[in-house]
Formats: sequence, structure tokens, C-alpha cells
Amino acid sequence: KKTDDQVLVIFGGSGDLTKRKLIPAVFNLFKGGFLPKCYAVVGVGRTEYSDEEYRKSVVFENEHLNEKDKVSESDLKRFSDLIYYQSLDTKDVDSYANLKEKLNQLDQSKATCHNYIFYLSTPPSLYEVIAEGLAANNLNNQEDGWTRLIVEKPFGYDLESAKHLNEHLLKFFAEDQLYRIDHYLGKETVQNMFVTRFANSIFEPLWNRNYIHRVEITAAESVGVEKRGGYYDSSGALRDMVQNHLFQLVALVAMEPPVKADAESIRNEKLKVFQSLRPYTKEDIANHVIRGQYMSSTIKGEKVPGYREEEGVGEESKTETYAALKFYIDNWRWAGVPFYIRTGKRMPTRVTEVVIHFKPNHHHLFSSNSNLANPQNTLVLRIQPNEGILLKFAMKIPGAGYNTEQVNMDFHYDDLSNVYVPDAYERLILDCMQGDATLYARGDSTEAAWEFIDPILRAWENEEIPVYGYPAGTWGPENADTLIEGEQMTWRYPC
Ligand code: BG6
Repeated sequence: KKTDDQVLVIFGGSGDLTKRKLIPAVFNLFKGGFLPKCYAVVGVGRTEYSDEEYRKSVVFENEHLNEKDKVSESDLKRFSDLIYYQSLDTKDVDSYANLKEKLNQLDQSKATCHNYIFYLSTPPSLYEVIAEGLAANNLNNQEDGWTRLIVEKPFGYDLESAKHLNEHLLKFFAEDQLYRIDHYLGKETVQNMFVTRFANSIFEPLWNRNYIHRVEITAAESVGVEKRGGYYDSSGALRDMVQNHLFQLVALVAMEPPVKADAESIRNEKLKVFQSLRPYTKEDIANHVIRGQYMSSTIKGEKVPGYREEEGVGEESKTETYAALKFYIDNWRWAGVPFYIRTGKRMPTRVTEVVIHFKPNHHHLFSSNSNLANPQNTLVLRIQPNEGILLKFAMKIPGAGYNTEQVNMDFHYDDLSNVYVPDAYERLILDCMQGDATLYARGDSTEAAWEFIDPILRAWENEEIPVYGYPAGTWGPENADTLIEGEQMTWRYPC
């Protein structure tokens, strides 16, 4: 695809995400030769930096820049020459004039053609004010070039705030200028779910209520809240992971085939999935949604603090670090098929996977030595780590009779040697540079996902729904097992 000459402006330019993800992503695009001929990055923040000081901080002294030692000195210098800085008080409309001036200068000296991406990597409370400040200085117009706005998550705090934010941004930018980022969509393995389903004739005919018994999605992390207690305590797992990342995975598993593989068609189908979620009743929330919080425990001989002891977290905090949900998608394809999703911090391991459990055969011909009387076929889409696809099926155990056992057919991305797997941010930034919003969330979908989540938030605020403690390093509250009904059925516990 064609990549126009352009400037990337990062609000929150001295922030953690910029150093950890955004500059390294641009660096990788630079190494891979994906940047256009005329290109610049402008970091924007409150702190006063000269261009040189900023380059030192985000390039030369940035430990997150992958393999920078493998790049020659002169190339590293060439990369750093693309980086600039502009200090700005986001709340002061007049100070955007300085940014405009800087961009005009770059357009002249670097021929960047008035094409700008504004990346909002600031606290969400500043999103509206920045959009307004840009517009007041005519930096949203598309007369001389194009402008796009990337908005980091969280996109809203609940349905009302998400609607408000959408409405506000749409006053200054058109929907096709807005790129709501969800970094899960930038993961190769997540995009591959789309290909697994729609490029193979063996899966799609089975991908429905007739053959699928249930769908399970897990996003487990072994780390705690780390240094983000302040943010996390007013967010929780439902807002932080479920409303966005996990629901994007649900949409990719459940969507109908789009008419084309383009942004409009794919995002239309995803929206329909969110619109088909069966709304929760109060009873459903009490019975089908479980929240938990990790408690201190000893992991591999080391004592780890409980959530309430983490920095920035209230002593009586009820914020969930674990959430598990059972729900239904009321449409033709999925009628009656339960979806189970869960996410948590301080779990035994870091793993994200989608598990499709197929229905067993109707007639049991063979005995089996597995603990299930009639083993089910399972397809596991491993998003991370050990990226790959695992298919479990029955095979005859050699010898007399017809004893069967479940075996694995296992594909690992690692097997594709010499294939470079780009980081999520790298892919997403490149897509935005090329004007492709396929892997970004559309406003109507974001609102539809909030609409489903909102009643849970309300119920958790107002009612006595327990927050179950679970020892750090375990798979969450024990009663989450009871969500999955059926004899000998439980979550898959990957090791
Ligand atoms: C972020 C959440 O969006 O995703 C974090 O705010 C979480 O709390 C992270 O740790 C997980 O991302 P990944 O790519 O490590 O699975």
C-alpha cells in the first residue's frame, strides 16, 4: 500500500507508552523500510525539552528500542534526526499555535505535505481538550493534506462517558479520521483468527451451533498491577480487559463472513455481534458474572503482596483483578451456545487463548482412556505466548481393540523460521499511516460493547455482589469453575 509523506505527533511524548511501545514501533518501521521518504515524529508534552534532549531520551537512552546495537551509528543518527519535540500546555488553546508553527516548519524543511497523525497517549481526561485545541487551530482540517486522530484506550469509563467522548470527538473530526486503538487487534495471532476461519474450508462449515458446544476465551497474566495501581483501582478487569480486548476476540470468533476484507465490511459484521449479545438480567449478573481480587501469597518461595497492598490501591478496594463471564449471542449461528470468557492478574501463567469445544459424536463407538467418556475435539487458538494453533482429536492407541486417546496436532509460529512477527503497535501505526482503519475499533461498536458491560458495572456499584479473594498465583476464585455447567466440564487450564 502507498504511504504518504507525513508527521506523527504524539501527545504524551515523554510518557511511558511512547518510550516503551510507540518510538520502538516507529524504529522498527524505519529499520524495515516502511517509512515514507519525508517523515517526522513530534513528541508533545508539558516538560521543556530541546529536540536534542528529547532524542537522547527516546532514542539513544531508550532501553526499549529493540536491537538498536544492530543498527549502524549513522542509521541510528538518521532515525533520531526524524524526531522532534514541542512543549505544549494541552489545556491552553493558544499554545497549540506553537505546534502548528512547528508543523509548518517541518512541512517546509522536510516536505511532509501537511499530513498529520495526532496520537493521544495522554490520560483520557485530556482527549476532549486536545481535540478541541487542535480544531481551534485548524489542525483538524483536511484542505492541504489529511489529519487522523489515534485515541488510546480506555475509550470511556462506561456507556455514558464513551458516548459523550464519541460525540465530542465527532464535533471536530469525522469518523473516518478517528482511529480508536485496541492493541489486541494488532497482534498477528488475533488477525490470524480471521484467516483461520475464512481461508480454510475445513473449519467454517463446523463453526456454528450445530457443531460447537461452547467457546472459551482466557486472557491470563502472571503479573500484578505493577506500578499502575492508581489507574487500575478506578478501572478493574472488566473495563481494562473485557470491554475492549476480550470483546474484540469474541467478535472475531463470532462474526459472520464479511462481504470484503475491508474496514467497512469487517467492522459492520463485528458490530452485529455486539448487537446480538443477550442483555444480562439482574439474576444473570449474580449468577453468570464472577469478580475476584488477588490476595497475598507465596509464589515459588517469594511472598507477593495482595492487591489491596499494592501502591495506589485503597485498603478496602473492591476493584476486581479477575472477571469471568458466561453469556449468549442471540443470532442464527450461535443460538444456545454459551461463551465463557475470563481474565485476571496474578494468575499462574501468562496466556491468552481461544478454545473452541466441538460437540461430541452422537454415537459412541469406541472406549477411551481419557477421563471424559467421549473425548471432544478442541481447537485452541493460542494468541500468546507460544503463538500457534492446536487441534485435539482422538486416535487409536496401538494394540488390541479400539481404545482411543486424545492427541495434539500442534502448529507453532516459531516453526516459520525467518518470519518476522511485527509488534502490535508497529502494525497498527503503519495501518493508520496508510489510512486503513480495519484493525481499529469503530465508535458504534465501542458503544455497543459498553452497552452490554454497563449493567454489570451498575450492579457491582449498587448491590452486594461479592468480590471473591483468590491467592496470587492461582486461577482465580474457585467458584468460577461452576460457571461452566455440565458433567466433568471446566475451563481449560493451560500450563
Ligand atoms: C492493557 C491493559 O491494555 O493490556 C493492561 O491496560 C494489560 O492491564 C495489557 O496488562 C495486556 O496486554 P498484553 O499485550 O500484554 O496481553
